[in-house]
Amino acid sequence: MTLSSAPGKVYLFGEHAVVYGEPAVPCAIERRARVEVQQRDDGRLRVNAEDLSLNGFTVEYGATADARPDVDVPESLVTAATQYVDGAIEQVREVTGAEEAGFDVTIESDIPLGAGLGSSAAVVVAAIDAATRELGVTLDRDELADRAYRTESQVQDGQASRADTFCSATGGAVRVEGDDCRSLEAPELPIVIGFDGGAGDTGQLVAGVRDLREEYDFAAHTVEAIGDVVRNGEDALADGDVEEIGRLMDFNHGLLSALGVSSRSLDTMVWAARDAGAHGAKLTGAGGGGCIVALDPTEETETALSFTPGCEDAFRAELAETGVKRVE
Ligand code: MEV
Repeated sequence: MTLSSAPGKVYLFGEHAVVYGEPAVPCAIERRARVEVQQRDDGRLRVNAEDLSLNGFTVEYGATADARPDVDVPESLVTAATQYVDGAIEQVREVTGAEEAGFDVTIESDIPLGAGLGSSAAVVVAAIDAATRELGVTLDRDELADRAYRTESQVQDGQASRADTFCSATGGAVRVEGDDCRSLEAPELPIVIGFDGGAGDTGQLVAGVRDLREEYDFAAHTVEAIGDVVRNGEDALADGDVEEIGRLMDFNHGLLSALGVSSRSLDTMVWAARDAGAHGAKLTGAGGGGCIVALDPTEETETALSFTPGCEDAFRAELAETGVKRVE
């Protein structure tokens, strides 16, 4: 049996635009997915995901991804957990050459699914790490991040950046621009998260931005403007200027909103954070519902969010210095 865990993340800047080659700065947070893997000798894959903020389900299916289970849970839940795990195990079989390897996979996560905190990347990264180690193979971080990226990209119809998976693999704050992924020095950031209890469909939201970008030049310019915000954000991070980082996060939220990926509850939480005196606030991840990230060293934003209609949970998040790791 092998157990690995990997952190979720928030985007300080640059989601969506990163899909089109602009830079982005995600930052790993101490909310982790844990994936336990045990090799089976019958070549089957059995996924047990009882604790994914879902209603708990177990599915079992054959060695190939085509052998879909006949399970009595909504398709979206099967998609959320098993497509990513399928993809991760496919990568494991390919990279280790153990084409017929079967596994029992148990997933536990304290990252809400589809809420902008990188749940799928954390599950995929931890699953690949645990399953390769279970077969006696240790991948280096870059190979692991690359295999996890391929998995996400496949599930998201080829429209994924390396940002979520690289951040989850390495931990800390990172900068991603196309294939160039590296760690960044970041000041201590007073991160507060508001969660509306909902989720967005990353594939659909990414496709929506793609369509807008193709239809309107000004939407393409909006994507480029996000890139400019990110470049300014990098300077503010290097200077440790938390107020400026916050101002740029506000700007970034406005541009994402113009691209149609915010929602009423995300906007409401963003304004509640700003009214409470946060340095800045924006949605994080694909949007459509889920989480916002705000910067506030005081308790005000967390308190205000906990009284904001539509906000289900408000909590402070620590930067996760360590990315994926084996849990003994
Ligand atoms: C989703 O967490 C982030 C997006 O930029 C998609 C991606 O980078 O793959 C919306």
